[in-house]
Amino acid sequence: MMDRALFARMTHVRIIIIEKNRCFRNTRLCILSPFFLYLCGVPASCTTVPHNAKDGVAKQLSKYVCQSCGYVSPRWTGKCTNCNEWNSFVEEAPSPAKVSHAHSNAAGKIKPTPLHAIDATNDVRFRTGIEEFDRVLGGGIVSGSVILLGGDPGIGKSTLMLQVALHLKDKVVLYVTGEESPRQVKLRAERLGPKSDSVQLLAETNLGVIADVIESAKPDLVIVDSIQTLYNPNLESAPGSVGQVRECSALLTRLAKSIHVPIILIGHVTKEGVIAGPRVIEHMVDTVLQFEGERHYAYRILRGIKNRFGSTNEIGIFEMHDTGLQEVKNPSEVFLSERSIGTSGSSIVATMEGSRPLLIEVQALVTTTSYGMPQRSATGFDYRRLSMLLAVLDKRVGVNIGTYDVFVNIAGGIKIDDPGADLGIAMSIVSSLRDKYVDSHSVAIGEIGLGGEIRTIAHCDRRIQEAQKLGFTKIIVPKNNVKKFQGVKGFSVIGVETISQAIGELLP
Ligand code: TYD
Ligand code: MG
Repeated sequence: MMDRALFARMTHVRIIIIEKNRCFRNTRLCILSPFFLYLCGVPASCTTVPHNAKDGVAKQLSKYVCQSCGYVSPRWTGKCTNCNEWNSFVEEAPSPAKVSHAHSNAAGKIKPTPLHAIDATNDVRFRTGIEEFDRVLGGGIVSGSVILLGGDPGIGKSTLMLQVALHLKDKVVLYVTGEESPRQVKLRAERLGPKSDSVQLLAETNLGVIADVIESAKPDLVIVDSIQTLYNPNLESAPGSVGQVRECSALLTRLAKSIHVPIILIGHVTKEGVIAGPRVIEHMVDTVLQFEGERHYAYRILRGIKNRFGSTNEIGIFEMHDTGLQEVKNPSEVFLSERSIGTSGSSIVATMEGSRPLLIEVQALVTTTSYGMPQRSATGFDYRRLSMLLAVLDKRVGVNIGTYDVFVNIAGGIKIDDPGADLGIAMSIVSSLRDKYVDSHSVAIGEIGLGGEIRTIAHCDRRIQEAQKLGFTKIIVPKNNVKKFQGVKGFSVIGVETISQAIGELLP
C-alpha cells in the first residue's frame, strides 16, 4: 500500500513535469485526477456527470450559489473563493433556459393594469372557527395565501394545525404529513375531539407528487407538516437543507397563487431560533406566524411576525391540555389567578400584546450575593434591558444594587418586550430589595428612560380600562398620559415623572 505522503510528493513531481511539457498536460491530469481526488476523500459523484438511465440524456447538475456575493460554483465548498465568506453556498436547481438578453420581446403586448380595475373580490377570507388563530391572521385565511407556522419542535404546531383542519367541517383540507404516519395523525385526531369527514391525509415527502395531488384535488386548504421533510428530486441535497427548503417553498408558493389554494407550511426553528437556516423562506410567504412558549408551561402564544393581509401585532393565547390546545379568551384573569398576594417582589404590569392589553405578574427576587460576582437572571424579559434598569436604579434613585443577585421572572411563561413594563419591573425589584410589598390592587405602567424619567407609552387608555375591568383600584402611569384620561369614581390614576415618585406612591 502506497504511503499517502509519498503519493502526494509523486503527483506533485508529475504535475511539475507536465507543466514543463504543456502538450501532454491535459491528458496526464485526467489520468491523475480521479485517483488523487479519491485519496483526498472527494466522492466520485462529484467528479462525474450522472446520466439518466432511461433516456440517456445527461442530467443537468444543480449549481451552488454563494448567498453573500452570488458566485456560482459547480460543487459545494466551505469558503467562497470570491468573497471569502464561510459556509455561504446553497444548492440551487439548474435554470431551465438561458435568456441571452434582458428584454423579453413583449413590448406592446403586455400592458400594466390600472389599480382601480383590479378585482380583489377573489381574495376572500374564511374563518377557521378558532378565534385566537383567526385574529392573528387578521380575520381568517386568505385564498391563495401561503402561511408559514414556525416554532420549536414539540411546542404544538402539528396539534394546532390538526385542530384547524378538524374545525373546518365544510371545507376539504389536505393534510400532508411527512413526519408522522397516517395512523399517528388519526390517533391524535381522535384525542382532539371534533370529528370531520373532510380531512384528507397524504403521507408523502416528494414535492412533485404533492404538487400533482394538490393540482388535481384542488382542496380548500393544504397543510404541509413539515416543510423540512419535503424534497425536490432535482436537487442532490438532503431534505431540510437550505436549498431544498427554499426550492420546495418557492414551488408551493407559485402553486398556491396559480390555483388560489391557501397553503400552511409548518417549519421547525433551528437552534439559532430561525426557520430552516437564515430566514430562507420568510420573504417568499405572505404570513409568518411563530408559535412559542416554555415547554414546561401549558401556555402557548401564537404571534404574527409578518402579515401581508393584516396587522402583525396580534397574538393568540392557547393552553395545552390532554385534549389539545384550548383558546384562552380572558388571558389577564388566567395569568393573575396564581399570583402571590402579600409577598414582596411582586407587582402587576399592564402590557400590550397586539391590540389586546394583558395584565401580568412580574416577580423579582433580590438577595445578597454569596460570590464576588453578582448574578442577574431574567426569564421572559430581555436581559440587557434588566441590566439597564438596574443601572438606572443605581445611578438615578440611589438604590445600591451592586452587591445583590437579581432574578426577574414574568409569571406564566410569557415573554414581554413592551417597554411599558419597565416601571412594574423596577417596582418589583425595589419591593424585593426593601422587603416591602406593593399594594395588591395597584398596577404600574411606564417606560423608564436613562435619566430615571418615566416616558409616555402607547395605548395607555386601553391598559387602564383592562386594570379597571379586573378590579384594580390604583394605576401609576406616565404624567403625560394621565392628561388624556377621564377620571372614574373609586379608581385613581396617578401620573408620575420619575421612578422616585413612583416608588413614593407604591412603596412609601
Ligand atoms: P406537537 O403538535 O406534536 O408538536 P410539534 O408539531 O410542534 O413538534 O405537540 C407535541 C406536544 O404536545 C407533545 O409534547 C404532547 C403535547 N400534547 C398534549 O399535551 N396534548 C395533546 O392533546 C396533544 C395532541 C399533544
Ligand atoms: Mg409536528
